[in-house]
Amino acid sequence: MKTILVAVFALIGLSLLVLLVACDGSKAKVTELEKENQQLKSQNQQLKDIAGPLPASLDKYFPPQAPAPVWLLEMFTLEGAFGGIAVNLQEGDMPAAKKSYEAFKAQWTKMSDMVPEWKSRFPMEPVNSLGQALDSGDPAKVGQAMGQVGQACGSCHVVNLVKAQQKYHWKSFAEVKVTDPVSKQSLAWRDYMLALSGSFGAVQVDLQAGKLDKARQNFQDLSARFKMLPAGCVNCHTTPRTYFVDKSVMDMVDALGQQIQGTPNPQKIEELMGGIGNESCLKCHLVHLPAQNRKQQWEIFAALFK
Ligand code: HEC
Ligand code: HEC
Ligand code: HEC
Repeated sequence: MKTILVAVFALIGLSLLVLLVACDGSKAKVTELEKENQQLKSQNQQLKDIAGPLPASLDKYFPPQAPAPVWLLEMFTLEGAFGGIAVNLQEGDMPAAKKSYEAFKAQWTKMSDMVPEWKSRFPMEPVNSLGQALDSGDPAKVGQAMGQVGQACGSCHVVNLVKAQQKYHWKSFAEVKVTDPVSKQSLAWRDYMLALSGSFGAVQVDLQAGKLDKARQNFQDLSARFKMLPAGCVNCHTTPRTYFVDKSVMDMVDALGQQIQGTPNPQKIEELMGGIGNESCLKCHLVHLPAQNRKQQWEIFAALFK
């Protein structure tokens, strides 16, 4: 009887132990999962910072909300004071370097309050260290401290500088309207592009199929649409454009017309169409699409960036 009881207790004890170990194992799994979850959240935030739109509170420092690009002007003040430290040090003028430092610190502190979302991007620690390094008078320490502050500038710039340029210095092509000389309708830029590239493609297809009459008709539309392009440029540019729609490109369009009116030379046609496609369409896209594309991404993926 006694041995049976001992055996039963031993069994109960053993199963409790097994249960305990199992529990501990799943607890370890849970903390592991929590850790991974935390990592994913932080990666997700970083990806949003890189790809997502700028904090809306920056808007008030740029037109149309502000009369001038206030944020950029404040950055120039910051840069001036920061550069002042370096120049004065190089000239061996410590009192002037310290004066530049005080101006820099004041501007840094001021800017750290301008965009609440960016408060942590203006850490005081490297700035205070720079002050101490200047007090020590040790050039090696000053150099290192300047580098640390420079890193704070750079880590914000690599994520946000080009975004600010694209958001505030590039007007959206969606707001640019061009009157289509064929349909007489006022079209948004993208719709105008679709019409233009439709004519361009039609001429190509007709020529390949040997439909010269159709090609001549479609060329009239292409030429008219092409020559209307500069009317769109003036929405954003006040100086005459020397690329994409300049005389050299218009000459290619006219030469293409002459080919089509006469007896087309396939090689000459290919050269001219390739030339227009490269020198106008492609090169203009290389310059203008990045900013426009970024605006589109912010719009289309707005839900993702919330
Ligand atoms: C300003 C210089 C410029 C020139 C010159 C230009 N494009 Fe464009 N094109 C753009 C911009 C900017 C967009 C994007 C517009 C938008 O998304 O609102 C665009 C968009 C397009 C699109 C639509 C792409 C898409 O899927 O959204 C096509 C097609 C196109 N262009 C064809 C052409 C062709 C063909 C030519 C030459 C015959 C040409 N473009 C000349 C600037 C230009
Ligand atoms: C919190 C983010 C942030 C920090 C920190 C920051 N900047 Fe900037 N800076 C910007 C943004 C955004 C722009 C773009 C503004 C624009 O183009 O309108 C900019 C633009 C500039 C420009 C103009 C660049 C150009 O090509 O037009 C200078 C110069 C500059 N910053 C200097 C500095 C210096 C020096 C520091 C550090 C001491 C610094 N910035 C720290 C966000 C930051
Ligand atoms: C929605 C505004 C917008 C429209 C429309 C636009 N551009 Fe631009 N373009 C810009 C911006 C912004 C830049 C970059 C810097 C600047 O302002 O020149 C630029 C840069 C350029 C540049 C290179 C820099 C320079 O100034 O030489 C050329 C060339 C150019 N555009 C040609 C054109 C042509 C040709 C058209 C019309 C077919 C056109 N752009 C239409 C906004 C626009």
